Amino acid sequence: MSQTKGRVFSGARPTGRQHLGNYLGAIRNYVAMQDSYECIYCIVDLHALTTLENTGMLREWTYEMALDWLAAGMDPDRGTIIFVQSHVPQVTELHTILSMVTPLGWLTRLPTFKEKVRQQPDNVNYGLVGYPVLMASDIALYKADTVPVGVDQLPHLEFTREIVRRFNAHFGDILIEPQAKHTEFTKVLGTDGQQKMSKSLNNHIEIAATPDEITQRVMGMVTDPARRYRNDPGHPEVCNVYSLHTFFSPGDYERIEHECRSAEIGCVQCKRLFAQHLSDYFAPFRERRAALAENPDHVWDLLTDGARRASAIASETIAQVKDAVGLP
Ligand code: AMP
Ligand code: TRP
Repeated sequence: MSQTKGRVFSGARPTGRQHLGNYLGAIRNYVAMQDSYECIYCIVDLHALTTLENTGMLREWTYEMALDWLAAGMDPDRGTIIFVQSHVPQVTELHTILSMVTPLGWLTRLPTFKEKVRQQPDNVNYGLVGYPVLMASDIALYKADTVPVGVDQLPHLEFTREIVRRFNAHFGDILIEPQAKHTEFTKVLGTDGQQKMSKSLNNHIEIAATPDEITQRVMGMVTDPARRYRNDPGHPEVCNVYSLHTFFSPGDYERIEHECRSAEIGCVQCKRLFAQHLSDYFAPFRERRAALAENPDHVWDLLTDGARRASAIASETIAQVKDAVGLP
């Protein structure tokens, strides 16, 4: 890979089948960025170990996520590197070295760390404290200059920039200070219309869902709570179904907005329409996914090849880092 275009790196924990939140918040941008950047996308299985109690699902979730990524158009044939973090162990070396220039106070003060301590008080492991150092190592190892992330990850990105500056100030200009690139659709609400869509809250809709599963999930979605009767006028601006229509029903949403406000269309009808559009939108995706799933070995081979290409970049960076630090 020549580094003329600008290089993107992003990582996501292996959470299995991806949902609309992952798709609108991350995958869609990952795909689009392939037009203008060299892209490296990583399934961060080591990061996942910091929060998992049961690691038995890691392999399957990694595979399911890779299927979704590939079927959605993240494409090794376009030069994109897609790989599994632990397949390129140089990242753990960089993690160790960067941890030596990381003040502990920076880590324990991070809002993301404090939140994890609240979430899992019985499992505040050493890896959890070092989570941002591992993330900084991901980005620095591949010399990425651009990192697409949601707002929740901005403290980690700022941390990465500080660590890179600190390392370079000590040891010379080796690492690259990355820029965050904001994604435009930052927060997709779940079927409850209240909380962020997430698998752990079971308020999600999988992008690989069958048309029947989509209909079932969509018909259970919470709409405008003030609209109690069919003839009440609706308020699309507070309705999650409507906000998703704006993305998945490009030719229709203006009409839907009007018909909702004037009570010409009811919530049931509106949701039926949404389920149909959602199902249509992901039909080509489902086909590509099914074709890929016919040959799981091929999917693993693609990941192995991604790791081979990632490893070539990683080895070069690690050699420079060790040399700069003075390791014999
Ligand atoms: P996670 O599964 O939480 O590790 O998230 C993987 C990627 O999907 C991250 O880039 C998140 O920002 C994005 N993401 C996850 N859930 C949502 C959501 N409900 N709305 C928008 N983006 C999301
Ligand atoms: N910490 C990120 C998250 O929880 C995942 C991640 C790991 C990442 N390494 C990364 C994101 C490097 C961007 C770049 O979502």
